[in-house]
Amino acid sequence: MSSEIKFGKLKFKRNGVLASGIMGLTGWSMVKVARCGAGGITTKSISKNIREGHKTPIIQVYKAGLINAVGLSSTGVANSNKELKIIKNNSDAVIIASIFGSTPKEFAETAEMLDNESYDAIEANISCPNVESEFGQPFAASSESAAKVTKEVRKATKKPLIVKLSPNFNNIGEIAKKVESEGADGITAINSVGPGMLIDINTFQPKISNKIGGVTGPGIFPIAVRCVYDIYKSVKIPIIGVGGIISEEDAIQIILAGASLYSIGTGILYEGLEIFSKINNGIDNYLKEKKLNYKDLIGLAHSF
Ligand SMILES: Cc1cc2nc3c(=O)[nH]c(=O)nc-3n(C[C@H](O)[C@H](O)[C@H](O)COP(=O)(O)O)c2cc1C
Repeated sequence: MSSEIKFGKLKFKRNGVLASGIMGLTGWSMVKVARCGAGGITTKSISKNIREGHKTPIIQVYKAGLINAVGLSSTGVANSNKELKIIKNNSDAVIIASIFGSTPKEFAETAEMLDNESYDAIEANISCPNVESEFGQPFAASSESAAKVTKEVRKATKKPLIVKLSPNFNNIGEIAKKVESEGADGITAINSVGPGMLIDINTFQPKISNKIGGVTGPGIFPIAVRCVYDIYKSVKIPIIGVGGIISEEDAIQIILAGASLYSIGTGILYEGLEIFSKINNGIDNYLKEKKLNYKDLIGLAHSF
């Protein structure tokens, strides 16, 4: 994998993208991830204004991953611009600024307020609950609401726009197609699965303060593979595959399903920051053994 990996107009020097929300808080923590081998860095989702999250405990480990309800805490776009500059000045990774808002307009305003010099692409996190819908459903819940956010952010920025989808609603392929038709340049899939719940058998209470939260880590991997497979069938724009990847075999599977790049969040807890270089070496060896080019792997499972 010595050559660059193209993702639309973006060029990644290495495969492997840090997923949003994990190590993605301070500029220096993200620089460290890039120096350990990630070719792309996604920031924790940024909102226009400072937002407090849920009270602790917000994360709990279980046998196949994590459950979390951080509550969309954010230091706001002004502070985030300072952290983005640190990554830009100290790493060669592609920087993906993840944003969220409570309305399509707020998504667009956040995109406009980002410092253009300090990031390479925007990821619109439409998988979080919003206040505009009367049901409090995420914008990713339907093609219509996903399209509204994509359209507004598209008007607000000339940078490549990636939209992050949720596995928790029907027809992820159809939603991806709609988002593509509104001008998205790429898709990230998937966000956390659920919501789920864990209960403490000594206190008899749910283990996280919000009671319910998103499930991530190895247990959700087959769902991520299926979602990427469905999206690849529906769109021409490239996909970042994420959800439960902890090994080179997982990364290869998600690429065979149709992802151009793999991404890791919870897997860092299992394997440490070396996970990116370990997986990239593993992919190189696999390609040599199979006498294949990296490009040939993307979506290869669809030939059968
Ligand atoms: C603690 C935590 C915080 C997260 N925060 C965000 C976030 O701010 N924005 C977002 O789009 N996804 C967020 N995610 C979801 C991840 O980016 C990723 O989509 C999900 O965890 C599945 O990948 P994984 O199994 O490799 O962790 C978060 C996940 C975790 C575990």
